[in-house]
Amino acid sequence: MTTMVQPSIRHEPVMLREVIAGLNVRPGGRYVDCTVDGGGHAEAIMEAASPGGALVGLDQDPEATEMARERLARFGSAVSIVRSNFENVDAVCRERDFAPVNGVLFDLGLSSHQLASARRGFSFRTESPLDMRFGPDQDELASHWVNDASEEDLADLIWRFGEERESRRIARTIVRSRPLGTTIDLAKAVEQAVGRRPGSQTHPATKTFQALRIAVNQELAILAEALPRAHGLLGFGSRLVVISYHSLEDRIVKQFIAQESRDCICPPGQPVCTCGHKATLKPITRGVVTPSPEEIERNPRARSAKMRVAERLAA
Ligand SMILES: C[S@@+](CC[C@H](N)C(=O)[O-])C[C@H]1O[C@@H](n2cnc3c(N)ncnc32)[C@H](O)[C@@H]1O
Repeated sequence: MTTMVQPSIRHEPVMLREVIAGLNVRPGGRYVDCTVDGGGHAEAIMEAASPGGALVGLDQDPEATEMARERLARFGSAVSIVRSNFENVDAVCRERDFAPVNGVLFDLGLSSHQLASARRGFSFRTESPLDMRFGPDQDELASHWVNDASEEDLADLIWRFGEERESRRIARTIVRSRPLGTTIDLAKAVEQAVGRRPGSQTHPATKTFQALRIAVNQELAILAEALPRAHGLLGFGSRLVVISYHSLEDRIVKQFIAQESRDCICPPGQPVCTCGHKATLKPITRGVVTPSPEEIERNPRARSAKMRVAERLAA
């Protein structure tokens, strides 16, 4: 028996028009949404791909896949929703004989209802246990890092994944405040360590929460593995669209597209090419596409979004 998931907050899909244009969605096309969540982008893709279109949507969050199934039920068997980490995107699609495809979308990070949930631990505004897992399959919770890691490891993590200059000071205060039970305890410890910057709208714990979430879900390593697997599903002339929300993710996407767009990836200065690498992608966007000021005003969560689009070249 399935329970109806009633999100108190509906996630508004970011840069919806730009995503549909970026994927170049056509009637009858086949698309993969690696981060389907409640199905906002997926629904628009299916509308533009009708008649005859099909979509496989993945998400590792069971609440997300349940919402997506309900929202996309009207498309019947043309839509398959699979609870899976997108690191398995090639296996998920090939098992369903769903390759080559016309486009693959990644809309990274977390959704508005994950952020608002009082159980998930993603927000410093809502009191909840220090969890931060996207899906229930991961073993490690944020509380492990917060309460058990050495001060040095914790500081390194906050530095690397949060790009937080005050990482050492924050880690020291967290370790002294242990045990920390909830998101509010953690937010207070960070605020105690670094204070509030006068006039700043950003909470001082923002980067620390980002760092913990990235570590718990191994987000950067998984993205770096998933991009080549998604690329392997693309038919000639088809599109890869990635929306990222912080510079660490965007760097991985940018480097992947740059590398796959070059005929040679030998070290600079090597006189003769020995790598034999051939370009298989062509960047479609110059740099990144960002949301319009109107979209940011309507949906402030979109403000950090950066979209990159690339097209699969013929061999
Ligand atoms: C920003 S939301 C996507 C929103 C969606 N595009 C829409 O319009 O409704 C990101 C989703 O990606 C999922 N996610 C993040 N990392 C994932 C991964 N490695 N594998 C599968 N799903 C992931 C999260 O659970 C979340 O539901």
